Amino acid sequence: MNVRPAKDADAAEIAFIFNHYVATSHSTFVTEPADTPLILEMIADSAALGHPFLVCDDDGDVLGYAYARRFRQGAAYDRTLELSVYVRPGAHEHGIGARLYAAMMDQLRADGVHSAVAVIALPNDASVGLHEKFGFRRVGTIREAGAKFGRWFDVGIWQYLLSDESLPN
Ligand SMILES: CC(C)(COP(=O)(O)OP(=O)(O)OC[C@H]1O[C@@H](n2cnc3c(N)ncnc32)[C@H](O)[C@@H]1OP(=O)(O)O)[C@@H](O)C(=O)NCCC(=O)NCCS
Repeated sequence: MNVRPAKDADAAEIAFIFNHYVATSHSTFVTEPADTPLILEMIADSAALGHPFLVCDDDGDVLGYAYARRFRQGAAYDRTLELSVYVRPGAHEHGIGARLYAAMMDQLRADGVHSAVAVIALPNDASVGLHEKFGFRRVGTIREAGAKFGRWFDVGIWQYLLSDESLPN
């Protein structure tokens, strides 16, 4: 098993994993399935912007993926990235999320990213546990931020500061 950058050939498996959660879970607020071209576009955008898009590869099978993207628009946000991670149904609790995050955090540090953010629709003990294992702390809550399956969900904001760098005045 190894963690490596996503390739175009992974797109269909990534779509399969994501679409499981689109259909069954509030862990994503997306409600329409993603097709392979959309994932190809995400992989290409990440590469163009230099944002990590990683997969956990087990002998050619994608067991999970994680990627980082801008948190919000506006140049002042350039060094804050929002993370997402999804592990293949049936492959949970085998250390795949942790492998992806270990590689992700290494890459974010190497890239000079200052702040990593995760927006977690609650409840989600597994995602909270994963993020807190990697040092993220809860910094806020947006109440009833999304509606899916006929009910409201709060989202919690978790953050990890990768550096204590101060900026020149
Ligand atoms: C969240 C998710 C990515 C975790 O991946 P995973 O491969 O199952 O996690 P790992 O086995 O690597 O576990 C890493 C840590 O996460 C935490 N964790 C994982 N599953 C957990 C659970 N069911 N309850 C509480 N903590 C859990 C633990 O802290 C664990 O560390 P430990 O093994 O030292 O106790 C996975 O559950 C998933 O894909 N969930 C659905 C999609 C999702 O919610 N994505 C996040 C959106 S914000």
